[in-house]
Amino acid sequence: MFLLGFGLQQAQAGMIDKEGMAPWEICGMCHGLDGVSHMPKFPKLAGQKADYIKAQFIAFMNGERTNDGGQMQAITQEVQPGDINRIAHYFSQQAAPAPIDENVDDQLYQQGKSLFAAGREGLPACRSCHNVARSDTPWLDAQHEDYLQKQLNDFKSEKRNNQTGSIMQGIAKELQPGEQEALVHYLSRSALREP
Ligand code: HEC
Ligand code: HEC
Repeated sequence: MFLLGFGLQQAQAGMIDKEGMAPWEICGMCHGLDGVSHMPKFPKLAGQKADYIKAQFIAFMNGERTNDGGQMQAITQEVQPGDINRIAHYFSQQAAPAPIDENVDDQLYQQGKSLFAAGREGLPACRSCHNVARSDTPWLDAQHEDYLQKQLNDFKSEKRNNQTGSIMQGIAKELQPGEQEALVHYLSRSALREP
């Protein structure tokens, strides 16, 4: 965690001595070496789709996704472009995270479940894009609740505005605060991936 106190924003390419490190070890400092991060500001990458990890990494690298407080953007400068595929593959192969089982609120959970599966008038079912074989959409289940909240807020305010993210901006704007709360409650407490 030394990087965090170091003022990562100012980090220059090549500042970290990576001699002898596997290229994903640097990611492990925030995302967990097994891809299961502990702090909710760092998304879990374990078992995430490799194409999605790669696309988001490149979006940070090119400055298209900037809702990260500068942390990811700085880190991308430390990675050899030739290593991106290996890193994405590595995290995609880690076991999917276990959902949290704390404080399940039955009513919220059921509301989130129904919105995810079926949507409502004016709101498409999340499942139609997120639980199908699409390499451009992330798995959302068992992700940190606060991370999901932040992303939906960032889509809504257009702070997250990388190209493919524009699909989500309209959807996030349509979500009522109570619906958003129900969805992230349900998703963080569910395991929905195909085995
Ligand atoms: C200093 C901490 C830090 C390090 C080290 C770090 N990240 Fe991140 N990463 C973040 C933060 C913070 C976010 C979430 C930003 C936001 O709120 O949108 C993030 C988000 C991501 C995302 C987006 C995930 C999603 O679900 O959309 C990917 C992919 C990612 N990081 C990959 C990597 C890879 C690969 C490495 C190693 C080369 C790495 N990160 C190293 C802090 C870090
Ligand atoms: C039409 C397809 C589509 C639908 C429907 C859809 N999404 Fe998405 N969603 C996407 C795409 C594509 C991305 C990746 C955006 C990017 O590249 O940054 C995404 C990303 C996200 C993310 C960011 C996750 C992360 O790891 O950073 C969240 C959260 C999310 N969607 C929630 C939802 C919820 C909740 C619903 C239902 C209310 C929903 N989505 C419906 C296409 C869709």
